[in-house]
Amino acid sequence: MSFKRFSRRQFGRIAGWSTLAMSMLPAGSGLAQSGADNRARNQPASSAFPSGFLWGTATSAYQVEGAVNEDGRSPSIWDRFAHTPGTIADRSNGDTATNHYHLYKEDIRLMKELGTKAYRFSIAWPRVFPDGTGSPNPKGLDFYKRLIDELSANGIEPFATLYHWDLPQALQDRFGGWTSRDTPKAFADYAAYVAQHLGDRVKYFFTINECSRLVHLGHGLGADAPGLKLPQSGLNQVRHHVALGHGLAVQAIRAHGRIGTKVGPAENAVSCIPAIETPANIRAAEMATRELNAGYLTVMMEGKYTDAYLAKAGNDAPKFTPEDLRIISSPIDFLGVNVYTPDHYVIAADNERGFTLAPFPDSFPHMKASWLRPGPEAIYWVPRHIAKLWNVKSIYITENGTSASDQPAADGTVYDVDRIMYLRNYLTQLQRATAEGVPVLGYFLWTLMDNFEWSDGYEQRFGIYHVDFETKRRTPKLSAAFYRETIARNAVA
Ligand code: BGC
Repeated sequence: MSFKRFSRRQFGRIAGWSTLAMSMLPAGSGLAQSGADNRARNQPASSAFPSGFLWGTATSAYQVEGAVNEDGRSPSIWDRFAHTPGTIADRSNGDTATNHYHLYKEDIRLMKELGTKAYRFSIAWPRVFPDGTGSPNPKGLDFYKRLIDELSANGIEPFATLYHWDLPQALQDRFGGWTSRDTPKAFADYAAYVAQHLGDRVKYFFTINECSRLVHLGHGLGADAPGLKLPQSGLNQVRHHVALGHGLAVQAIRAHGRIGTKVGPAENAVSCIPAIETPANIRAAEMATRELNAGYLTVMMEGKYTDAYLAKAGNDAPKFTPEDLRIISSPIDFLGVNVYTPDHYVIAADNERGFTLAPFPDSFPHMKASWLRPGPEAIYWVPRHIAKLWNVKSIYITENGTSASDQPAADGTVYDVDRIMYLRNYLTQLQRATAEGVPVLGYFLWTLMDNFEWSDGYEQRFGIYHVDFETKRRTPKLSAAFYRETIARNAVA
């Protein structure tokens, strides 16, 4: 399958630019708790996460729900894309996925079994506005009301993502989706409606999941829906519209949500790791973080495209107004980051940018997916850099996890010790961050159960519950026990 393997380094390379760096150490106390619970479990206080640290799991609508033709839902660009021959590795689609739409109560039991206290899910725009704009479909929102009520009844806090890539196909057909300024406007109307009607139930909203991937894989490389391969100028304009959509949605949620509603993005920041932890390399990695995220986090946080970003884009630079930049940088309440892999190991350099990016040697290991190189320190450095660069006080790890081969053994158990190894190492680094005062408030493991992994179809399993896609039966993998134990200890098991 030609589309399959685009490493996230490729996003990084084409993502953006800038210079500068600086500022003071991240604020926050965040020293490890030394609770009675941990002493009782013989857990050294220094290895604990802060008290009240939020443990959760994450999924997204098209990857789990199924029920694509039910209760008035219309097709999204992912329905169209997945049904186009040659797009999905195993020629599958999300028509039934894990059938979460009907099995959500069972899934909430799984969350409870783990001891999670938060669930990040996404709302399918084409369920709520089948035509993208205009008349809402109350039955669409009813599903999310049922889901949220069941979560609340089980003591699980809902974190709702408004857009995890499933644009109503109607908007793609009508005005070219994110290539048009009409889509950010439509997104704001949808966000306003959701805030109005779910604001009594949901306190935490994420605007857009991974702007960078939907821009580059969807509109540059053609590997994700809508499968476009735009020239650089078009791609830069899409990136701007997506950022604008984020900002307009922040404003819509503020205007229509309840008091106390909190909102932020869920971005997969290009992760820049100091190759060796010297002060010079750390500073270089901060500069690289700012520079390589210029079209996303940097413009959201600073309200301007950096000089280097615009200079590099040249005649292909996006068209925008000062008002756009003000909207894009509307104040947020927290920053969500998806962290899977180190995108770059950075070395300080005496050049214009102040750094060089070390090439990855062929011998660098990877998990089942070839793009997923384990580099646990990424989950330490990403939040540390963003806290420092933009003085961010509240950070959530909105996704982290790995696929694995996950064959059930003769006794039926999936002994996914590679996933446990991965999670243990990442969580150890995350604990290091919280112990040093980096303000990470919670962690959402990707993902609760195996699901439709985009252009990899069902070939890449990321769940800690195994799903038999014929029967839709869920079975805990060994990693589910690892996660449960970690949550119970509030420390890495
Ligand atoms: C996405 C998920 C995806 C995961 C693993 C993230 O890019 O938000 O939808 O399944 O990575 O590839």
